[in-house]
Amino acid sequence: MDSVPVIDFGGQYSQLITRRVRELRVYSELIPYDTNIEKIKEKKPSGLILSGSPYSILSKDRKVPVVDKEIFSLGIPILGICYGMQLIARLFDGGIVTSGHNEYGKTKIKLNLKSPLFKDLKPLETCWMSHKDSVVKIPPAFNVIASTPNLPIAGIEEPKNKIYGIQFHPEVMHTPSGMDILKNFLFDICGCSPTWTMVSIIEKQIKKVKDKIKEGRVICGLSGGVDSLVAAVLVSKAVGNKLTCIFVDHGLLRKGEAGKVVETFKQNFKINLIHINARDRFLSKLVGITDPEKKRKIIGNEFIRIFEEEASKIKNANYLVQGTLYPDVIESGTRDAARIKTHHNVGGLPADMRLKLIEPLRLLFKDEIRKIGIELGLPDEILWRQPFPGPGLAIRIIGEVTEEKIKILQNADEIVVEEIKRAGLYKSIWQSFAVLASIKSVGVMGDERTYAYPIIIRAVSSADAMTADWVKLPHKVLERMSTRIIGEVDGVNRVVYDISSKPPSTIEWE
Ligand code: XMP
Repeated sequence: MDSVPVIDFGGQYSQLITRRVRELRVYSELIPYDTNIEKIKEKKPSGLILSGSPYSILSKDRKVPVVDKEIFSLGIPILGICYGMQLIARLFDGGIVTSGHNEYGKTKIKLNLKSPLFKDLKPLETCWMSHKDSVVKIPPAFNVIASTPNLPIAGIEEPKNKIYGIQFHPEVMHTPSGMDILKNFLFDICGCSPTWTMVSIIEKQIKKVKDKIKEGRVICGLSGGVDSLVAAVLVSKAVGNKLTCIFVDHGLLRKGEAGKVVETFKQNFKINLIHINARDRFLSKLVGITDPEKKRKIIGNEFIRIFEEEASKIKNANYLVQGTLYPDVIESGTRDAARIKTHHNVGGLPADMRLKLIEPLRLLFKDEIRKIGIELGLPDEILWRQPFPGPGLAIRIIGEVTEEKIKILQNADEIVVEEIKRAGLYKSIWQSFAVLASIKSVGVMGDERTYAYPIIIRAVSSADAMTADWVKLPHKVLERMSTRIIGEVDGVNRVVYDISSKPPSTIEWE
């Protein structure tokens, strides 16, 4: 399988570049800029892309991220984007200056169509710029291949060693021919084939799991969502009935969810299933806990303890399958990405866990999981279920989790989802749910004063949960939700709508 990793200097769009490369059916992943050259070689890349960065390459007061220059001796093509181009210019003795102001936005760009990077493009295209520093002198042996009215050197190439740099961003939608440029780089310059298909991922993962689990048995933590189910079905294809799925009801699921999950699973799959009601166990551990990270750790820990207990009842069960996705890994804090929150299935795991993890989806995004699910023949109602976090309503109840608050939230959440479905919006919205904050406000119902909880409605659109926007729900839909929640759910006297995007907020409140 061909792969073209993105060397990450912390740029805003690094992640998006890997997604674009994958969309073109070439495998790509982010690798930190200071990864050891031997490790890069082990990946046998067909080419490399150098990302943008929030740093200025000219900055004296910080440690500017650079890459081992040996990457240019690997005999593979390299494409530097934005900071990546400036870094190439600097490493090969070009000249860079800072203009002091940000050039940000769409601009017309003249392209030299003799460069293979711009094959089949028009001589004048539109591109998206976002930079402060500019290359003003090209390194020896390089040619200029693109320019804009503001920037005479907007693209460079060194054809002999296939080194390319572009100051603009081909990965964003505002560069309409950006995908063609990436295509040219991947297929013509790097010589890749578009073989990273969902079928090839499935085959590869099945083989990997088969090789890993020669003997012994496997358990899989099932949440009812699409990720763990896709992971379970993949692993069952590799190990057959050596797999047992364990569905733990922690009492923090949506209303009626536990029954639905078990029923759907039994109807559709011939995989062993154990259903555990652990409501009291989880809720007793959460008494008095208000800190979101503590809640996440307690829940992550308790899940694993239950899996271990169940595994000990099955002879030779040493492996635990989880449906961990790439965004869970990134948000739980990799070495270079800051920790935003501890996803229960990554950073929330106990240090002394005995089971060995199998995470066949660890490098994939949600939309890719859904595509795999389609290939595996999963039913639509599971595939298009909106994501639900492992710690469940515990991170949608802000403050201490109590039985009373769970009941209120479940009832309010049910109305939110019902109204979203009634409006025909369920599939097009990434997530829509209710949140309960542990504060009370004054209201009046009939002639009586009330003092009760507010419910916060959250609905976001997103492609991969890394960024999200609040959905401009029709006022009629909001009105129905509000009227129904206040009228039908005891303990609520106010409804508000969350109009924050991610960043700077996150999707969940905790
Ligand atoms: P945030 O709140 O970080 O959420 O913007 C991003 C996506 O991840 C889900 N989420 C989780 N999923 N375990 C999970 O399985 C977790 O601990 C967890 N925390 C957040 C969230 O619902 C959203 O889709």
